[in-house]
Order: sequence, then C-alpha cells, then structure tokens
Amino acid sequence: MVSAGALVDRYGRVATDLRVSLTDRCNLRCSYCMPPEGLPWLPSAEILTDDEVIRLVRIAVEQLGITEVRFTGGEPLLRPGLAKIVAAAAQLSPRPTLSVTTNGIGLERLAEPLRAAGLDRVNVSLDTLQPSRFERLAHRRRLPDVLAGLAAAASAGLNPVKLNAVLLRGINDDEAPQLLQFALTHGYELRFIEQMPLDAQHSWDRASMVTAEEILAALQAVFTLTPDPAVRGAAPAETWLVEGHRTPSGAPAKVGVIGSVTRPFCGACDRTRLTADGQVRNCLFAREESDLRGPMRSGATDEELADRWRAAMASKAAGHGIDDPSFLQPARPMSAIGG
Ligand code: 5AD
Ligand code: SF4
Repeated sequence: MVSAGALVDRYGRVATDLRVSLTDRCNLRCSYCMPPEGLPWLPSAEILTDDEVIRLVRIAVEQLGITEVRFTGGEPLLRPGLAKIVAAAAQLSPRPTLSVTTNGIGLERLAEPLRAAGLDRVNVSLDTLQPSRFERLAHRRRLPDVLAGLAAAASAGLNPVKLNAVLLRGINDDEAPQLLQFALTHGYELRFIEQMPLDAQHSWDRASMVTAEEILAALQAVFTLTPDPAVRGAAPAETWLVEGHRTPSGAPAKVGVIGSVTRPFCGACDRTRLTADGQVRNCLFAREESDLRGPMRSGATDEELADRWRAAMASKAAGHGIDDPSFLQPARPMSAIGG
C-alpha cells in the first residue's frame, strides 16, 4: 500500500529506500570513483550535523513512507557519529531496515557497536582478493583490513554480509569465479555491478566496460547457475542460484549481477538519495538537486521539508539514459552522491 504522503513520481514509482551519504571522504581511491590524489572535499560547514541527518531521516520515515535506510559515503565508517545516527534511526516507528554500504575498513572495530546500535546489514565493496591488484585498483594497501572487517561483520550477526564487486578491464576482469568461490566459502552474498560513468575523472568508457553478459559467462564456465525463482521487485540485481552450494542457514546460495548500464532497472527504481550536504537527488544520474539544508537552517518546519522532498521526487526522470547520445555524467562523482 502506498502511504499517504509517499514519494511518488510522475511515472507512478514510489520511493521507499533512502540512501544517505554521511561524508564524501574516503580512505580508498578506487579508480572507478576517485583520482589517486583525492578530491576537494565538501567544507565542513556544509555537511549536515548528526542532528540534522537524524531529523531528515525521521521526516523520511514518519512522513514520506521510507522503510529502508542505507548509509553510504564516501566511506560512512569515517563519520564519527555513525553509531549515534543508526541508534536514532532504529528508534523510529515504523522501524526502518538499516544498512551501511562500506569499503569494510574499520568494520573490524565497528561491526559490534553498530550491531548494538541497531544496524541490520552491511554491503561491503570487494573487487579483488589479490593484494597487488587491490593496491592498483584502490591505491592503498588495505585488503587485509577489508577481509578482517568482513569476518567481524559476520560474527557480529550483520547477516547476510553482502559483497559488491566491480570488474575493471585489464585489472580484475578474470576474477569473477574466484570472488564467487570466496563468497560461497564464507557464506557472503556476492553481487557484481557493471561500472557506471560516475568517476570524478570521467574516464569511464562504454567499450571497455565489463558487461553483465561477460560476467555471467565467466561464472558459468565454473559454476552451474539457474535463474532465481524469487520475485525481483525493485532489486537492481538479477540473481541466480549456484547449484550445489548453500548459505550458512541452509538456503540455496545465490549470486547477483547488477547490469546498471546494459540491463537498466530504472522502471522499478524505489530509491531517493540525500547527499552529505543536505541535497535530495532523485537519481544517481540526476543533473539537478533540491536543497534541504538551506531551508532547514532557516527554520523550515518538518512539513515544509517533507513537501520539498516530495516535489524533488515528483520530477524524477524515467531512466538514466546512459545510452542516449545526449547523456551527460552528473556533475558530482559517486563519492559525493552516495552509492
Ligand atoms: N560504477 C559501479 N559501481 C560503483 N561503485 C562506486 N563507483 C562505481 C561505479 N562507477 C560501487 C562501489 C560500492 C557501491 C556503493 O557502488 O564499489 O560497492
Ligand atoms: Fe571510497 Fe567507495 Fe569511492 Fe572506493 S568506491 S574510493 S571505497 S567511496
């Protein structure tokens, strides 16, 4: 059922999944996201305070029908107030599902406190299992921290631990089966994501992108995959059952492929995004944003902020149009938008 004040667009899509970017900073430099030298970070006065984030999440849940809140970045574990924000979101009614999309660095220390604060799940980026490739891809020697973070998340009960992998031509494009074997061995749920044109350097190139079709072919050379009979809904990943493998809870093991570019799922999109500096984005690829920070700091009421948010979503475009000749990459990179 669509709730009364829901975030509906002119195509009838209803946003129930909120992604909140808590910082544009990161301790990695994944080449599909940031240049090695980093980016000019947002000035701290423009970043929402913990209380401002908590207020907007409350409005989203209480007035706008949001049922799922994911904290992203940049790297959300770099935000000192993360556990406090999660704890406040867990107090809301109806209680939203709470997750964090992270590169995993710091999870070793934070998995337990975040779980205690009410976090339900984590999505961890893992593109390679080879330290030298990790360094080439992310420009930092941090693979052991990521692996320790994964183990800590699983033992803290943040299950199922989900893994996101992006394959880059000439770097890790041969690693799909090994990543899946690793996920199956540890009971993690793996999804591959086609690389999207969201890097600050604008170096994305359609021709060199590793496609969903290629990823599936590489997996099928080693594993027997059957289409997942479960209903897909608004989930971006197409999922397959991996024959002969089970999850730690005994269910058939799955693998997902998110064909963001070649198999767009915009028609079923249920997402709305809030940047670290308080702008609503109705799409990852939107070229416009709606400011909530300014009105909030000038004394807007909850109802006024909810109205602005609804208006921002009403104008959501039908799709990302990456294949249109007129496609333009958004002005902000992924690290400033939130995954
Ligand atoms: N294309 C695809 N996925 C990306 N991510 C970051 N940048 C890109 C991109 N250009 C992924 C990260 C993370 C998630 C939030 O999005 O690896 O797992
Ligand atoms: Fe950091 Fe995520 Fe960007 Fe990698 S993709 S540099 S982990 S924000």
